[in-house]
Amino acid sequence: MASYSSSRLFAAFLVLLWSCRLYANGCYPSLFSFGDSIADTGNLKQLAATSNDGTFFPCVPPYGKDFIGHSTGRCSNGRLIVDFLAESLGLPLLPPYFHGQGTGGVVEPRKGVNYAVCSATALDASISEAGSSDRPVLNASLGVQLSWFKESLLSICGNTSDCRNFIGRSLILVGEIGGADYSHILQAGKLIDDLEPYVTLVIDVIASTINELIEMGARTLVVPGNFPIGCFPSYLATTGPDNQEYDPITGCLTKFNEFAEYHNKMLQTKLIQIRELNPDVVIMYADYYNSLMQIYRSPHEYGFTNNGTLKACCGCGGPFNYNMTIGRCGDACTILCDEPDTYISWDGMHLTERAYKLVFKSLFQGPYTTPEFYSMCPTSTSQAKLSSSL
Ligand SMILES: *[C@@H]1O[C@H](CO)[C@@H](O)[C@H](O)[C@H]1NC(C)=O
Ligand SMILES: *[C@@H]1O[C@H](CO)[C@@H](O)[C@H](O)[C@H]1NC(C)=O
Ligand SMILES: *[C@@H]1O[C@H](CO)[C@@H](O)[C@H](O)[C@H]1NC(C)=O
Ligand SMILES: *[C@@H]1O[C@H](CO)[C@@H](O)[C@H](O)[C@H]1NC(C)=O
Repeated sequence: MASYSSSRLFAAFLVLLWSCRLYANGCYPSLFSFGDSIADTGNLKQLAATSNDGTFFPCVPPYGKDFIGHSTGRCSNGRLIVDFLAESLGLPLLPPYFHGQGTGGVVEPRKGVNYAVCSATALDASISEAGSSDRPVLNASLGVQLSWFKESLLSICGNTSDCRNFIGRSLILVGEIGGADYSHILQAGKLIDDLEPYVTLVIDVIASTINELIEMGARTLVVPGNFPIGCFPSYLATTGPDNQEYDPITGCLTKFNEFAEYHNKMLQTKLIQIRELNPDVVIMYADYYNSLMQIYRSPHEYGFTNNGTLKACCGCGGPFNYNMTIGRCGDACTILCDEPDTYISWDGMHLTERAYKLVFKSLFQGPYTTPEFYSMCPTSTSQAKLSSSL
């Protein structure tokens, strides 16, 4: 009797071991990403290096100063949300699509590829007013990124029916996208009050991209909303007297945050419609806005000091360490903070690695995705805790 139950115990132990091994392989064998500079791990850097059309790459050192290998093309001092996500799934850091171009392809494309490009818009160049006259419009909109994905697909996963299953097992991150559309339109001289008509256009592009991915076999997607841009030094430093209305708790610009919330509300409404039409597909909304807003509401609890709350770590001076008249982070005028970990904003428009890591945790191991990511992928939680270093 005793030996019977102990062998049962042993069998149970084996099952446990086996399931741990399964867990170690992660819930998703691959990760694909689309978006702008929030997720670009090196595409624009590569595009600028290989094209002769004046494509400009802004994220030069000290960008990447806290990343192994340094200047990777990430627009932060270190890793991005998508990097922490890949690590937590037991996947390699996501290779940029253009690293593989002309060199025989990305090394392990079956584990995922990143199509996000710094400064990319949701809207195609022809319909966005993105073209500020001094610079060519970047041809890397969400639709173009999707066409790169389609072009590269057969080399990643073989034939059409294999690819369908492969995409179905993959996790697909669609965004953040739209932030660059709005910032380009503002830079072209429009006011925050003029932006509303563009929101529907942007959301329609995001929705049609999701629908196309679903048609190709996608079953698990994460769709982020916009950040609270009213807290970003780039807007705090440049907004005109008409819009200088501040939230008393955070010091953020009220109208800019209301606009981001409006975009997010429209996006979520659209996602609800897509879910209803595709009940077998999981579409998670990633609430970048509130995930970051909780930090702005009590920055000290998270170790961000007075200077690091609304001021950029890297910039060219002024009350928010952001002054494009003089120059940007990376130019000769650069004033770099001593402790990036005590700053939320790295350069006025992008977060520091530490802020990205906190946002990642609250999204993918906390309550800020709907439905909650960790309820579908408990693995990522335990793995990320193991590899947690900050
Ligand atoms: C943009 O890129 C896409 C995909 O590579 C291409 O089909 C299109 O012709 C390009 N558009 C422009 C204006 O260069
Ligand atoms: C796709 O490739 C797999 C092997 O990788 C093969 O078993 C299958 O028959 C192929 N399907 C088609 C439609 O060619
Ligand atoms: C905060 O910024 C002020 C000037 O902007 C500087 O004098 C002070 O040393 C900074 N404090 C910290 C803790 O970095
Ligand atoms: C930026 O620098 C210019 C030139 O020194 C100055 O006139 C302007 O007031 C500065 N703006 C901010 C927001 O600091």
